[in-house]
Amino acid sequence: MKVLQPKTTSHQLENYEATKENFDWNQVKEAFSWHKTGQVNLAYEAIDRHVNEGLGNKPALLYSDAERDETYTFRQLKDLSNQAGNMLKDLGVEKGDRVFIFMPRSPELYVSLLGTIKIGAVVGPLFEAFMKDAVKARLEDSESKVLVTTPDLLPRVPLDELPHLEKVVVVGNELPDGEKFVSYFDKMKAASKESAVEWVDLEDGLILHYTSGSTGKPKGVYHVHNSMLQHYQTAKWVLDLKEDDTYWCTADPGWVTGTSYGIFGPWLNGVTNVVRGGRFSPQDWYETLEKYKVTVWYSAPTAFRMLMAADPNIKEMYDLSSVRHILSVGEPLNPEVVRWGVEAFDRRIHDTWWMTETGAMLICNYPGEPIKPGSMGKPFPGVEAAIINDHGEELPPNEMGNLAVKAGWPSMMRKVWKNEEKFNEYFAIDGWYVSGDTAYRDEEGYFWFQGRNDDVINTAGERVGPFEIESKLVEHRAVAEAGVIGKPDPVRGHIIKAFISLRDGYTQDDELIDEIKQFIKKELSAHAMPREIEFKEKLPKTRSGKIMRRVLKAWELGEPVGDLSTMDD
Ligand code: PRX
Repeated sequence: MKVLQPKTTSHQLENYEATKENFDWNQVKEAFSWHKTGQVNLAYEAIDRHVNEGLGNKPALLYSDAERDETYTFRQLKDLSNQAGNMLKDLGVEKGDRVFIFMPRSPELYVSLLGTIKIGAVVGPLFEAFMKDAVKARLEDSESKVLVTTPDLLPRVPLDELPHLEKVVVVGNELPDGEKFVSYFDKMKAASKESAVEWVDLEDGLILHYTSGSTGKPKGVYHVHNSMLQHYQTAKWVLDLKEDDTYWCTADPGWVTGTSYGIFGPWLNGVTNVVRGGRFSPQDWYETLEKYKVTVWYSAPTAFRMLMAADPNIKEMYDLSSVRHILSVGEPLNPEVVRWGVEAFDRRIHDTWWMTETGAMLICNYPGEPIKPGSMGKPFPGVEAAIINDHGEELPPNEMGNLAVKAGWPSMMRKVWKNEEKFNEYFAIDGWYVSGDTAYRDEEGYFWFQGRNDDVINTAGERVGPFEIESKLVEHRAVAEAGVIGKPDPVRGHIIKAFISLRDGYTQDDELIDEIKQFIKKELSAHAMPREIEFKEKLPKTRSGKIMRRVLKAWELGEPVGDLSTMDD
């Protein structure tokens, strides 16, 4: 097993083992102004505070897409987020209310998000690819009071079916008719730059990220302001952010990486943050690295694999020498990708493991520490991770089991919105948060990911619940039953494959396959679309009528199907 040794020791976590011994989260409190003033607000801490400390003219956000190229200083973001906060207050938003933001990456998205947090409201970012049903489910469950969106995305918001939604802030030039609509640009112009900050409690609500499990609807994972302790410290020691860094996290704020590390981590550290709008392309990404002289880059295995698969000449066209530290999250980081990183950038890619529910990194590879390609690394100081069996007993090295974490790290979710039962399911084994991942730990304390122990699918780093897709599939007029699995794929990690039995009177052909795919793409979202569909006369089911996905998976992989005693004849 080859271990990749660091080339430099330029990192802030001087000695991992020694720090792990002595670290206490209470030490981190001193980094925040509320430690002295007692006045808490994450948005204040991320933006305003730096202005008060003399960093007002430092670039905070470097934004570009095909049409725009803009720089915002910390002072500008302070003013704009005050305006956004005051605008929202004016619309009746109060502490604890939910404000959802449904739009592509743009400066207005970041400003609205900061403004929402500033006034103590709970922000819910929605990925721009969501279609009507996905949008409705989230706005309905969260009882969102205000939505910020663009004219393009408005048709996907079923206003008549959302009684709690009082106002829609439209970020665009035309304003549709109707008393619920207000213009972002008009309201912002009229809004005061006076501080909109509402002081909150560390345990007050910050953000709701919806995420999928293997059963039921998406869950609203609820995080609180206290998370900032971990956003800040992991960004310092794992992202290795320093004052003069230019940092780029490629994730969209619709997913937790895009908020915890696309917003909170870097700005809490006062670091210049790059946001590139638009879609992925190798040219575009390399150009972004070059253009901004990005020093620290946080992305995902799927993206690295797509860069690997692209014509190597493309990369040669750009000067990428500014990049000093690369990190990855979201799915297993293949050893060959780590090796590619060394070849292409002369840098080791540092894997990190965490989840929407954990709010921030828990198991990581650290700058200056040896890396074992294929391993997720070691627990962050102050985090106790273990491999346990179903009774909560810790397993010895190299034995596979449940990857679990001792409850109580600062950024742990505080509830599943309106669903206490789901929340409690995570903590069913005494004192442990059970992740749903299986892994083992080697003798040296490195953790190795083995898989999920439920049916959740990780496709291109995005987490998709099979149940949601199956439920949608059976709404299609031709579909009698559907079972959905993840099928291994060299670039995306997994793709979504649906097994379908048809209703009487329908015949399987390419046209129907295409129609069903488009149906999911239109109603749910592009990333939920099955890339493969296979028709079956009958689907394997338990006697109680549950589709047996593990049997579908075994068929797909040509593996033994295992115990079939619960299967219906
Ligand atoms: O299965 C693990 C996988 O992604 C899941 C969490 O997904 P999500 O909540 O969408 O958050 C992704 C970004 C924080 C985990 O349960 N996962 C995440 N990181 C890794 C990973 N699998 C393997 N290696 C990782 N580094």
